[in-house]
Amino acid sequence: MVNIDRRRFVILGVAGAGTAWLSNWLLRGTSNSSISQASDSLPPVYQSSNGLLELNLEAREYPIDLNGKQAYLLAYNGQVPAPRLEAKPGDKVRIHFTNNLTQPTNIHFHGLHIPITGNADNVFLKIEPGNKHTYEFQIPANHPAGTFWYHPHLHGLVAEQLFGGLAGLFVVRGELDNIPEIKAAQEEFLVLQDFALDNDGSLMGSMHMSLMSGREGDIIIVNGSIEPTISSSAKRLLRLRILNASPSRFYRLALEKHSFYQIATDGGALNKPVELSELLLTPGQRAEVLVKGDKPGQYRLLNLPYDRGSMGMMGGGMMGGGMMGNNDSDEPIALATIDYKSLISTTLPTKLNSIAKLPEPEVLRRFELNHGMNPTVGMAFLINGKPYERDRTDTQVKLNTIEDWEIANTGVMDHPFHIHGNAFQVISRNGKPESLLAWRDTVLVKRGETVRIRIPFNDFAGKTVYHCHVLDHEDLGMMGNLAIEA
Ligand code: C2O
Ligand code: CU
Ligand code: CU
Repeated sequence: MVNIDRRRFVILGVAGAGTAWLSNWLLRGTSNSSISQASDSLPPVYQSSNGLLELNLEAREYPIDLNGKQAYLLAYNGQVPAPRLEAKPGDKVRIHFTNNLTQPTNIHFHGLHIPITGNADNVFLKIEPGNKHTYEFQIPANHPAGTFWYHPHLHGLVAEQLFGGLAGLFVVRGELDNIPEIKAAQEEFLVLQDFALDNDGSLMGSMHMSLMSGREGDIIIVNGSIEPTISSSAKRLLRLRILNASPSRFYRLALEKHSFYQIATDGGALNKPVELSELLLTPGQRAEVLVKGDKPGQYRLLNLPYDRGSMGMMGGGMMGGGMMGNNDSDEPIALATIDYKSLISTTLPTKLNSIAKLPEPEVLRRFELNHGMNPTVGMAFLINGKPYERDRTDTQVKLNTIEDWEIANTGVMDHPFHIHGNAFQVISRNGKPESLLAWRDTVLVKRGETVRIRIPFNDFAGKTVYHCHVLDHEDLGMMGNLAIEA
């Protein structure tokens, strides 16, 4: 059996006074009798049974000892990252949510194709401090298997609440998991988050963050742990299921002396594995990769430098301090170590899925991403020249139709563009046809780039949003309302 090395693995959360098992860990809950107790185990996983996934979920601030400093993080059920939820196509989901934050909040189920209204994936809900809400929906019987996630989505507070730690995986188990080579693989989830502390050890407040660039912290954790070791002694492939749950930080991942074999994107399985020397994950994106190897040893999972652009002088006094880098340090950073004794190169699966190209639609819309001045708030991030307004409908589409959207980034920073509720295919980038057929819900649109995507608006009518997933950009206006009309 294989597991993340316990000495380095940290459940960020919650321990009673004198809990010895936490003592070696870098990040740990401080003793505080008012917090609930975490057990000496990996973070809990809630799985559906008999067609139902039901749980209580509480959002709350927790005192956490972070690198020897006390910090206040925000957590679901005392866990950073939040507990992993797992369901199957056709299952019902019922989440009894309590907001014990000091701010209003809500929950978004990023990437799930479920109703966007009512008590389901409704980003217009506002759950006030002290209030409860029961989320309830059914996962369609034909829903693809994949790595999805949940996080707060109340406009204006999204970046701040995510940066406090509120994010967890939502896994749909299905066909991909049953492919023999994948079923036999060792499955590891990697939730990537970053945090920033000020000199007093408190979480860096928005006043001190580079909101224009998008806040980044200098502390990067993987599953709540700084540089964990993932070890394997079994002779099987390693399946890494990776989520970028940081509000702004891009991860450009590489594994020393190894390739990745990507098997899934945001929206589930690719048609066949694709060999990559590195993997770029923007905020919000997920990927699944297989790793094979016949050179036993220890290898670092690196985050390579990536320049996503910056607002330069435009942010003026709002630019952050020196430690708030824009991920443009030229040093690779080790995120984790993969240690295997005899992971031998077993056969990769050949066929994973049968994604077909969508037919070319009649409707083509254009969206321009840029920044500019907003008379009321000053600097703003804009779509088609406008900052977000809750009560304006920006885009109206017909249910069960397909559209092409052209997303043009005419600004000075990269913007990962995300649409709620329906996955899409990338058709071209700067006019160059995209060769990889894949389902995504978030696509990077680099500065100066125009990306064309093709989206089917299937099954669920109602109002939802699209936005930049650098969540400070979203909170500063780079979001639009989408009405899907029956
Ligand atoms: Cu993960 Cu609207 O976002
Ligand atoms: Cu989303
Ligand atoms: Cu952006």
